[in-house]
Amino acid sequence: MAFAELYGIHGTPKSWSVPQDFEAYFNWEFAPERTKLLSLYERGKTMQWNANDRLDWSQELDPENPQQLPPEALPILDAPVYKRLSPREQMEIRRHHQAWSTSQFLQGEQGALICAAKIVQQVPDLDSKFYASTQVVDEARHVEVYKKLLEKFGVAYPMTRPLKELLEQVLRDTRWDMTYLGMQIVIEGLALAAFARIRDQAQNTLAAAVNAYVMEDEARHVAFGRLSLRDYYPHLTQAERDEREQFLVEACYLMRDRFDAMELWQALGLPVAECIEHLHASGAQAAFRKRLFTRIVPTVKDIGLWGEKVRRGYEQMGVLEFADVDIQAMQDNDERVAREFDDRRRYVDATIAAAE
Ligand SMILES: [Fe+2]
Ligand SMILES: [Fe+2]
Repeated sequence: MAFAELYGIHGTPKSWSVPQDFEAYFNWEFAPERTKLLSLYERGKTMQWNANDRLDWSQELDPENPQQLPPEALPILDAPVYKRLSPREQMEIRRHHQAWSTSQFLQGEQGALICAAKIVQQVPDLDSKFYASTQVVDEARHVEVYKKLLEKFGVAYPMTRPLKELLEQVLRDTRWDMTYLGMQIVIEGLALAAFARIRDQAQNTLAAAVNAYVMEDEARHVAFGRLSLRDYYPHLTQAERDEREQFLVEACYLMRDRFDAMELWQALGLPVAECIEHLHASGAQAAFRKRLFTRIVPTVKDIGLWGEKVRRGYEQMGVLEFADVDIQAMQDNDERVAREFDDRRRYVDATIAAAE
């Protein structure tokens, strides 16, 4: 079946075009010089992987609970509107919610692919162009893996409105650092926290491994954003930095709302207002929404956009406590967990080979 036929919302468009108006910058000095960025580029090259070899795509998903997630992964689990449904209807909602969430990963990855390609063109220095080119390949692979995984769900969803709004804003902006800020810092920082939940909770090995391997790459992407922007922002005027801070706060609110899944409840014929009200009142959901910012907040502090506006915004969102999270330790952990998935696969393969 063609992928477009999997969309659970009737009339989902087959494409989206965002007009662009920015300068493609040629650097004729050919003088890459920042050693930290160059070593990240080296890592970007040596850590490439092939999704067809590294993952076992013969594994199937359980139609009743595709990623084998714990019940509480469904945000409306305790909502009266869900409890009233038959077990069969509840199962359908679980499957669709997991497909919706994985669809947002897929749609966001295509956004990242396009943003990374935009950075290659726009960014002035050559070391950043070098690194961003490896990110383009990474993002293509991420689109590939989530598409393959989603095909196994048998249903898919279009990009949710808040994500689309932020992506459009980032793509239309003519300043190169805004692409980094929106994509590398906010969208990818938040995606890392969302991927981690699946990696750490899914009992289905394929779903868990896809997220572990994508995270291994994403951790580098966030590091790239940090390294590039940390050198750039001290040179801007206070007014220019204030504008970025304003953008950051608004972008974070948009990203928080992207988990409301409004269109999903609507497509499933559930009372949307009741579902959203439940999401906003649920303690578990509030804790999840907070955790989404674990990686964004310390990164924003690290790149020096830590003025009054940002701090107040994060305080209101209740996420200021993440300011001192050790980002490097998290990145090291993401790489270690990905290697553990490799070890497990090798062990299983060797056991099967020995038994044959
Ligand atoms: Fe990605
Ligand atoms: Fe990425």
